[in-house]
Amino acid sequence: MSERPGPRPRLFDTWSRFYNLRWFQWLTYRPVHNAVLAALRQSDSLRVLDVGCGTGLLASRIRRELHRTRVIGCDFSSGMLERAAAGSRDVAWVRGNALRLPFRTSSFEAVVSTEAFHWFPDQAAALGECFRVLTPGGRFLLGVMSPASEGMSRALRLGSRLLAEPSNWPTRRGLRAQLEDAGFKIETQQRVYRLLGGLLLPPFLTVATRPA
Ligand SMILES: C[S@@+](CC[C@H](N)C(=O)[O-])C[C@H]1O[C@@H](n2cnc3c(N)ncnc32)[C@H](O)[C@@H]1O
Repeated sequence: MSERPGPRPRLFDTWSRFYNLRWFQWLTYRPVHNAVLAALRQSDSLRVLDVGCGTGLLASRIRRELHRTRVIGCDFSSGMLERAAAGSRDVAWVRGNALRLPFRTSSFEAVVSTEAFHWFPDQAAALGECFRVLTPGGRFLLGVMSPASEGMSRALRLGSRLLAEPSNWPTRRGLRAQLEDAGFKIETQQRVYRLLGGLLLPPFLTVATRPA
């Protein structure tokens, strides 16, 4: 079966050139990264995979701040990965698609993914892959913006298609249902506060486990 169309890696190759702008990061993604780090500190995760790692800002921080952790960052954009590699040699950077992760089953105690899930054209397949590569009992930390209603989620989906870069932001409830369908057990779902877009499309961090 052919894959549903998703955004092209070239979009992200271009974005990678100015992605790390400090003020942009502080206004947008940094608070979500902080929330992921705080959640990771709550238990030992020796091997952590960051899916859709972009320029590797979060993966590099995990490696720096959680000392015993081995970190792999995976992304399908070579532009993003080039910048990631320039930023840290202590993380392994791997080119790969979230829908077909190039890792063995049960390889990681934690999988994280921030601000990338809405781009995955087959979210069920991506969740299945995250579940597969986690060890039993391992944790999945998913940070993504969630519209307040199904109507808004649909409108955003339609708008993104018209712009020819399809994306899909599920509501909090929709996301929980998707995770449960993939076999995960939801632990927590917390709102992350940030300035840019924080009212209209607030980000949430959902923590789920692959049952042991
Ligand atoms: C907005 S960036 C987020 C990057 C990073 N996680 C962060 O928090 O800064 C979205 C990333 O998802 C990646 N991405 C989108 N679709 C993907 C897919 N199907 N497989 C792997 N990576 C993908 C893009 O290349 C991009 O680097």
